[in-house]
Amino acid sequence: MTVLVGYATAHGSTREIARRIGSRMRTAGVEAEVLPLDAVHDVSGYDAFVVGSAVHGQKWLAPARDFVRRPDLAAGSRPVWLFSVGMPGALRGPWKRLMDKELPVIESDLAAPITVRAHRLFSGVIRPGHLNRTGRLRFRLMGCRYGDHRDWPEIDTWADQIAAFLPHPSPGPLRD
Ligand SMILES: Cc1cc2nc3c(=O)[nH]c(=O)nc-3n(C[C@H](O)[C@H](O)[C@H](O)COP(=O)(O)O)c2cc1C
Repeated sequence: MTVLVGYATAHGSTREIARRIGSRMRTAGVEAEVLPLDAVHDVSGYDAFVVGSAVHGQKWLAPARDFVRRPDLAAGSRPVWLFSVGMPGALRGPWKRLMDKELPVIESDLAAPITVRAHRLFSGVIRPGHLNRTGRLRFRLMGCRYGDHRDWPEIDTWADQIAAFLPHPSPGPLRD
């Protein structure tokens, strides 16, 4: 059982989340390969997929969008989990409620021909240098907070839940 943990990132926080998910799964005994999605050409060697992308304008980045639309991903009914990395942690007050609506918007844009086991929205990292002038102005008007908003315990728990779902070799009997 080999799992692909694939990601698309603009500024690196999604890559770090993917690496954390992969290492957590390996600790649980699952063989996990962590790769940028634009480097994955052949999906035939994987038994399950955890696919994540940074969110820009309520959409996934192109390499991740293209990946989940691949016909060979849909074939074979292998389990697929999705994670989006956005900025719920940066928002405050009434703006936070906008995030409840983000996953359906992302999914309708993906229009992927796959059955998804679960799709989670995690908070990532947002710095002033990631945004253009208009973006920074809008960010300030909305009272958003820059910073690293990743919730590692939440990410670990999710990775553990996926690992527990997948068949993996149990440790052999103890020997003297
Ligand atoms: C240009 C731009 C647009 C963004 N649009 C959204 C968005 O629509 N929704 C959201 O939740 N987060 C949005 N974000 C926040 C990013 O998704 C977040 O910073 C994430 O951690 C980026 O991941 P990365 O470091 O892997 O690129 C945006 C960030 C940038 C730079």
